[in-house]
Amino acid sequence: MAVLIDGKKIAAEVRGEIMAETQAFIKANGYAPGLTVIIVGENPASQVYVRNKKKACEEVGFASEVIALPESTTEEELLARIDALVHNDSVHGILVQLPLPKHISEDAVLRAIPPHKDVDAFHAENVGHIMIGDFDYLPCTPAGVMELLKHENIDPAGKECVVVGRSNIVGKPMGMLLLHANGTVTICHSRTKNLAEVTRRADILVVAVGRAGFITGDMVKEGAVVIDVGMNRNAEGKLCGDVDFASVEPKASAITPVPGGVGPMTITMLLRNTLTAAQKAAAK
Ligand code: GUN
Repeated sequence: MAVLIDGKKIAAEVRGEIMAETQAFIKANGYAPGLTVIIVGENPASQVYVRNKKKACEEVGFASEVIALPESTTEEELLARIDALVHNDSVHGILVQLPLPKHISEDAVLRAIPPHKDVDAFHAENVGHIMIGDFDYLPCTPAGVMELLKHENIDPAGKECVVVGRSNIVGKPMGMLLLHANGTVTICHSRTKNLAEVTRRADILVVAVGRAGFITGDMVKEGAVVIDVGMNRNAEGKLCGDVDFASVEPKASAITPVPGGVGPMTITMLLRNTLTAAQKAAAK
């Protein structure tokens, strides 16, 4: 029986710390850390994520605003809205929910959010800082995974760490953070040959491919730690991860459930980044 890594509980603990720091920040500065989230269009999953982000901000005492723009918004209009937030001193973090409608360049939008307000840590400058290992902001999902490992006393040092998925949001930075933690890191992707042979080497297996039940028990080593970043809906519309929990759990030493594993940590790390952005702005 694997240890179930309780992301909800760990997230609540970390959010308690953030809330206390936020109260101290408000007392010292007379205003709250501010996060503005922009959502363009009506992607239902994005709407849920954005609603959850706003709720989490309110719970820890941040000032948060959601700007919901129609699908027809032009790139120019969106960039103008971002520019206004860049020049608004009460906004410490700006997050544009992805994916964007196809007629808007994601690259142009992410470049428009300056590194010091980039609480997603998607700007090339912040990505570069992560590569070097000298960073203020970490991308929320990989940072959340590292926090889960820390809370479970799982040290990647010297371990075989296999990441499945090479997205800019999760896979690539995840590999980098595990490397900074002295893991021996392999990043797998759709062109990887003999994937199961590679995943079976993993002491720590992180899966972020966006395909329900993609990793099955035969692909996992006995005693592995399995972190499931997936957030999919199965045929019955139920939330499920990239890992086939029923066949993997009996082999794993520890595993994250979906929901209730990585998900709650992602928003928690967004709160952490926003507080950091406010603290840095206040210290200037
Ligand atoms: N869409 C899915 N995940 C994310 C995320 O972490 N940040 C943003 N901005 N959009 C997302």
